[in-house]
Amino acid sequence: MSSAAHDGTIESHSLEVETYPPSAEFAEQANVHDSSVYWRAAEDHEAYWASRARDLQWTKPFTEVLDWSNPPFAKWFQDGELNVAANCLDRHIAAGLADRVAIHWEGEPGDTRTITYGELTHEVKRAANMLTALGITQGDRVAIYLPMIPEAVISMLAVARLGATHSVVFGGFSADSLRSRIDDAEAKIVITADGGYRKGRVSQLKPTVDEALALEGNGSPLSVEHVLVVDRCGSEVAMQPRRDLWWHEEISAFDGEHTAKGFPAENPLFILYTSGTTGKPKGILHTSGGYLTQVTATHNDVFDLKPETDVFWCTADVGWVTGHSYIVYGPLANGATQVMYEGTPDTPDWGRWWQLIEKYGVTIFYTAPTAIRACMKVGRQVPEQYDLSSIRLLGSVGEPINPEAWRWYREVIGAGKAPIVDTWWQTETGAIMVAPLPGLTRLKPGSAQVAQPGIDLNVVDEAGNRVDPGQGGLLTIRKPWPAMVRTIWGDDQRFIDTYWEKFGDQYFAGDGARVDKDGDVWLLGRVDDVMNVSGHRLSTTEIESALVEHHAVAEAAVVGADDETTGQAVVSFCVMKSQQELLSADDAEAALKKHVADTIGAIARPRNIYIVSELPKTRSGKIMRRLLKQVAEGKEVGDTTTLADTVAITMIQQQVNTTR
Ligand code: PRX
Repeated sequence: MSSAAHDGTIESHSLEVETYPPSAEFAEQANVHDSSVYWRAAEDHEAYWASRARDLQWTKPFTEVLDWSNPPFAKWFQDGELNVAANCLDRHIAAGLADRVAIHWEGEPGDTRTITYGELTHEVKRAANMLTALGITQGDRVAIYLPMIPEAVISMLAVARLGATHSVVFGGFSADSLRSRIDDAEAKIVITADGGYRKGRVSQLKPTVDEALALEGNGSPLSVEHVLVVDRCGSEVAMQPRRDLWWHEEISAFDGEHTAKGFPAENPLFILYTSGTTGKPKGILHTSGGYLTQVTATHNDVFDLKPETDVFWCTADVGWVTGHSYIVYGPLANGATQVMYEGTPDTPDWGRWWQLIEKYGVTIFYTAPTAIRACMKVGRQVPEQYDLSSIRLLGSVGEPINPEAWRWYREVIGAGKAPIVDTWWQTETGAIMVAPLPGLTRLKPGSAQVAQPGIDLNVVDEAGNRVDPGQGGLLTIRKPWPAMVRTIWGDDQRFIDTYWEKFGDQYFAGDGARVDKDGDVWLLGRVDDVMNVSGHRLSTTEIESALVEHHAVAEAAVVGADDETTGQAVVSFCVMKSQQELLSADDAEAALKKHVADTIGAIARPRNIYIVSELPKTRSGKIMRRLLKQVAEGKEVGDTTTLADTVAITMIQQQVNTTR
């Protein structure tokens, strides 16, 4: 395995693995079966993307493809106009597909809804009328804090239909995190539900919204005028008169008549917050025409989608970018039929996903390595009880997939023959950037393999020069791409500093990578202070700030330690204030874990908290997180010559080893 260390050095040892060419049968029917697409796209990348963009429906065709006159602020198809929601809905109705199932939705308790394109279009039009009546127009921001229910998709599309901008906040985030996102985007409406079903219980959401809106905020007046509440669980919730409205009551006043207007290609479509290397999450801004072009094209090519016959299932939550691009916009723009599931894979037992694949005849399944590894642990006897013969392609996203998990996935879920597409991309890239094309690529377990046509990828050294094959380096993208982040909401300077400062004209992704002698890309993990836990990005700095905000904590250091199941796990080392030393370590540990979960969200809860008397520091006072990571992973501590003294790290090592 290879990994990127905290300080940017990259360890990579060549792995010789077996390869799997596409079967003749698969290659023959593949959407992309002519490899000349790569060089044609490289020769004229604007012409390539323009042709993909023309597959969409434009109310006003574009004449200019790319304006890169003011880098790094790209404008794609900017004089064109389109309606993103109409591309996902009305266009299919006009093509006679109203009766095609768009979503086979399954609630965790087992309740189901089958929603055709006709019904989805009708509901989105009603929701758009409801939002219009509540004052939402082009450019307004709407926060969405919902479980995995159809109203999440309906809300996103209704907002898009009006030319407004959504900011979906994952339901696992705390009141604090929700409020800071609401404030940053100045959202006028929050769409939520009483709760959703998770692990057999109701996981409440509305009380968190109430708590968020009652917080002090950033000093500006609260932007939120209304909270729309979907009644998912029938639980008792407090409704504040005038501010809070039941979705079902409000929408009942509206019919399904609504004509979609075209909006400029660069009209903001959504803001999605992601962790950066500093405490404050970044509001990644995506716009309309370019984003929709690339998610639609990659969904078609990488997943080899046949909308007439395939049943697609992406297990991500709509609160993450994967859900935006490959549950909502890509699949719906392509007229796909898909499965959407509310709950967790282990409820009522670990057979749930496989049972759903059998029930709906899922043909394309897209999930994360962390989930695959969890299923491996449970054992193949569980999926083997189900008929998974409908599966014809498997996908992976969120972190590198280790070859062992890759082989298990292919053998146990893919009957030893389904191609696996390992897709590398980011919230910022908006759409898949590196992945095999299943009809062309000789698959190599553990490698994300090749840049998609029209993507100009580079692996460089610290000076920005391309490194030789086999050498570790930093992943950059040289030419602008249609679904690229346009800016950080409200902070152009941070956008420049974060992604463009280092190499000037190349986008720096924050990942280490190496290209092997066949030209395949291997991702080596983050080279910055960002962790990847179960495929979700978490900032070490953000968790450290949360810990030191606790009244008992004097100092804190957080590292992402390798974890067999979740990829990385949050491990914290805290020094307590002197008067707090009387607290037992167990009590302190529990209190601090809860504090992090309350401040950021349950996803950030540390796996371990070690209460230590001192942190290892350099002579200039910098915490040596690299050494802490090695200790947390049970490894030998490497070079300690820059430490002021070695006592602290030795003591921490003893402490960690005795609790291991
Ligand atoms: O480090 C890379 C890792 O996840 C980061 C992006 O996280 P996020 O914006 O939350 O988006 C996740 C879903 C697209 C990347 O910088 N990552 C994502 N996919 C892969 C990956 N690392 C290796 N292989 C992948 N397939």
